[in-house]
Amino acid sequence: MSAPKKLFIKTYGCQMNVYDSERMAEALGGEGYVETKSAEDADMILLNTCHIREKAAEKVYSELGRFKGLKAEKPDLKIGVAGCVAQAEGEEIMRRQPLVDLVVGPQSYHRLPEMEAKARAGEKVLDTDFPEEDKFEKLKNRPKAKRGPTAFLTVQEGCDKFCAFCVVPYTRGAEVSRPADRILREAQDLVERGVREITLLGQNVNAYHGAGPNGDLTLAQLIWELDKIDGLERIRFTTSHPNDMQDDLIEAHGTCAKLMPYLHLPVQAGSDKILKRMNRSHTAESYIRLIERIRAARPDILISGDFIVGFPEETEEDFQATMDLVEEVKYGTAYSFKYSTRPGTPAAERPQVDPAAADDRLQRLQALLTRQQREVQDSMVGREVGVLFEKAGRFPGQMVGKSDYLHAVHVADCDRQIGDLARVRIVSSGANSLAGELID
Ligand code: 5AD
Ligand code: SF4
Repeated sequence: MSAPKKLFIKTYGCQMNVYDSERMAEALGGEGYVETKSAEDADMILLNTCHIREKAAEKVYSELGRFKGLKAEKPDLKIGVAGCVAQAEGEEIMRRQPLVDLVVGPQSYHRLPEMEAKARAGEKVLDTDFPEEDKFEKLKNRPKAKRGPTAFLTVQEGCDKFCAFCVVPYTRGAEVSRPADRILREAQDLVERGVREITLLGQNVNAYHGAGPNGDLTLAQLIWELDKIDGLERIRFTTSHPNDMQDDLIEAHGTCAKLMPYLHLPVQAGSDKILKRMNRSHTAESYIRLIERIRAARPDILISGDFIVGFPEETEEDFQATMDLVEEVKYGTAYSFKYSTRPGTPAAERPQVDPAAADDRLQRLQALLTRQQREVQDSMVGREVGVLFEKAGRFPGQMVGKSDYLHAVHVADCDRQIGDLARVRIVSSGANSLAGELID
């Protein structure tokens, strides 16, 4: 038997790419590949790219350039580009960087085994189609390997919202939901392999409307189906759009014990003028009212957000409206970005904000968000929370896990195993994590 071929995957960007990279590794596992952590050892290198912000394509080209020496030493080395830059750039990648053997868009990963065979035979292969079939269904021939206690599960892909700054509707395509039975089978399989917590993924996850036995299911209905799986202890989902936050989902946050009290609900900006130009179809006020309804259903829920500062034509007054909204909502965690132009999106054509002003706003926003994050984390001290242990800590006898609210929690003198869920009393709050003790 020949030695296994080695696969090196470098993943950029969002959790969906992390999930996709796992599926690609499994698909190529069927072709005799094992994963390696070093590009130098690899027989195949895949860059799973992200196109959401900054000079994504340029970064990919410079990363690819670094493999020149490796390819010269190892002519059989195959190099592939996957993900959203692959989708956006297509053939251009092979034109600009002849080292590349394979370009595969996010909707075509199930075709990787055939593509790999063609690349091995010396062909240049490109697939950036949006095929009809469910790529994950076709990617199923995975080994029944044991898994860690947490996993991602993609339930929905693509987006029809067309926010004026965003490439996702172009790179991931139109919104498509996977049928519920496939998701439930995959969840059951994950639980049999040791998973205790599943995070449902989608670019617009709360727009989920996958086929069920009696018509389409909402995300809340899917969560209630998952709730029935014995051994599955925790359910999360990300990322949601305010306009798709339906009543049954809000209600589930109050009534479904397995659904964790954490919600990532990006608002992007606090000025109605900017929100309109962003094509967000919600206002600051409607977002705040929505948060109030969610908190009425689940008072302790931790709210997380995304923000863009320096969107075209944003004035200091508009920015202040974002700061006011943040003050009002009080975020437990947040991601904030300086607007960056994505060619082909409507906002790219609008008058841009002075970069120095945008930098300054970003700093002020991040200072406020960091303070809030710390306050929310500190407010956990003295409380009892659930913790799912994920790994051993740095000190003997110490275990580390995540609380219901997704804070990292360290527990000393801990006799629990990875994958155990325990009640923990939080005793102190550090720079980036909490410390707690087991409650017997
Ligand atoms: N510039 C800056 N941030 C962006 N995001 C998406 N597109 C852009 C862009 N062009 C941010 C949004 C989104 C998150 C995933 O990335 O805040 O919610
Ligand atoms: Fe992009 Fe999210 Fe807007 Fe869709 S809803 S266009 S993914 S920012």
